[in-house]
Amino acid sequence: MKIVFATNNRNKVKEVQALMPSNIQIVSLADIGCTEDIPETSATIEGNAKQKANYIKEHYGFDCFADDTGLEIDELNGAPGVYSARYAGEMKDANANMDKVLKELDGTENRKAQFKTVIALTLNEKLETFTGICSGHITQEKKGEGGFGYDPIFLPDGYTQTFAELPLSEKNKIGHRGKAVRKLIGYFS
Ligand code: IMP
Repeated sequence: MKIVFATNNRNKVKEVQALMPSNIQIVSLADIGCTEDIPETSATIEGNAKQKANYIKEHYGFDCFADDTGLEIDELNGAPGVYSARYAGEMKDANANMDKVLKELDGTENRKAQFKTVIALTLNEKLETFTGICSGHITQEKKGEGGFGYDPIFLPDGYTQTFAELPLSEKNKIGHRGKAVRKLIGYFS
């Protein structure tokens, strides 16, 4: 089976492709000729995932899945949350976003945080959602070169290395997106 993954983020495609069984082939937005920015104007992570999946269905006619992810920090009342990409401004700069988080948590003992991914799937005129959560802590400084986004400052519970230091296989095993994708795969089978 072929299904469109509504993202332009190559890192996400890499992560999700690594988890998919060989009978499910991911089709990219480039493959269907979608080059515009898909609107993400909802006030919730779930709402954004649904909005992106619905957009592809309505404008291109393909069944598809879309994910939206946010980093929720306890001490910041769940921020940056749905605004994770643009936390430090419209340029969506991962380094600037991490610097802002580290500055806001400066001197704070409670560094508990979680990543939350919601995947929305349009299939056979139905819209389903699948959620994955990974709990952890925000480090004092950036560590590691791998991953993307906030990975260098996120220490998953039970680990001494950040997501940016862990191999992709390990991130996928315990991570938010991996958990949501496994629920999605379970729905297909
Ligand atoms: P979106 O799902 O593309 O809207 O992601 C929102 C923001 O969260 C972006 O700044 C991403 O870099 C960041 N983000 C999404 N997924 C991850 C992840 O797995 N690790 C670290 N940051 C992420």
